[in-house]
Amino acid sequence: PVVTAITGWPLTHTRSPKMHNAAFHDAGIKGRYVKIPSSTDELPLIPEVIRCYSIAGMNVTIPHKQAVIPLLAEVSKTARGAGAVNTICNRNGKLSGTNTDIAGIAATVTGLGIVPRNAKILIIGAGGAARGAAAYLSSAGAEIHITNRTEAKAKELAEEFGGAVVPAADLAPTYDLIINATPAGMSGFADTLPVPTSVLSSKTAVFDMVYEPENTPLLAAACALGVRKTAGGKQMLIEQAKASFALWTGVIPNTAVMTAAFEEQT
Ligand code: ATR
Repeated sequence: PVVTAITGWPLTHTRSPKMHNAAFHDAGIKGRYVKIPSSTDELPLIPEVIRCYSIAGMNVTIPHKQAVIPLLAEVSKTARGAGAVNTICNRNGKLSGTNTDIAGIAATVTGLGIVPRNAKILIIGAGGAARGAAAYLSSAGAEIHITNRTEAKAKELAEEFGGAVVPAADLAPTYDLIINATPAGMSGFADTLPVPTSVLSSKTAVFDMVYEPENTPLLAAACALGVRKTAGGKQMLIEQAKASFALWTGVIPNTAVMTAAFEEQT
C-alpha cells in the first residue's frame, strides 16, 4: 500500500486524514494517510521516519513549515520563494519539499474573479500563510499592501516581496481584495476581527484563510456591508490536499469526494 502522512503539532483537529483516505478509496488506490505528530525536538527525526517506513509523501503543518526546509535534499522554487514547505515527496529515499498551499491560494483568488496583475491587494499577517500569499501575488504582478500586528515582520515581507506596509490605523477602503492570513477569527483562538471594518467596502473581495467557523467574523462583517465576493479557507485546504495527493500518486483526486470528507462531522 501507499503510505502517506501528516506531521506537525498539534494534529488533533486535522481533517487531512479523512480527505486523503476518502480520495484513496475513491481512486481505487490501496493507500493510507496517517498522523505522525512531532514536536520541535522530534522534527529532525522525521526524514529517517519517512525512509524507514517507506512513506511516499508527507504533509507538514504548523509549526514546522519553515523549520523543515534545511532537512530536505531539494526544495522547489515556489516553496523556497515562500520560505515554507507543506509537502514532502520521497523518491527512493531522496526527500524533496514543495508548497501546495500556494495552489490553494491561487485557486481561491481566481475563483473570486480577481486577476492579480490588475489588483490592489491587502494581506493581513506576516507568518507562513501570508508569505505564501505574498510570494504568489507578487510573482503574478499584484500591488501588495501588508498589515500585521507586529509591524517589523510586515516590513520584512514587504521588502522581500516588493510591497508596502500599512499600519492598521491607516487602512483605507481602497482594495480589490483583502486576504486574512492570521488565525484571528478561528474558533477557540481569538473571536476577533483581524482589521477594523472601515477597510471594507462593497466593491472589495474578501478571502479569509480561516476555515472554522465557516462564517468567520471578517466574512460576516463583509456580508453585512454588502460584499458579494467572499471566500473562506475551505477551498484552499481542499486544493492543497488535491495537489499533494496528485504529487504522491500521480492521480488527481475527485474534489467532491474530498469536500464531502472535509465536511463530515466527527
Ligand atoms: P501561519 O503559518 O499560519 O501563517 P504564523 O507563522 O504563526 O502562522 O503567523 C501568524 C500570523 O498571524 C502572524 O502574522 C501573527 O502576527 P505577529 O507577527 O504579530 O505574531 C498573526 N496573528 C496571530 N494572532 C493574531 C491575533 N490574535 N490578531 C492579529 N494577528 C494575529
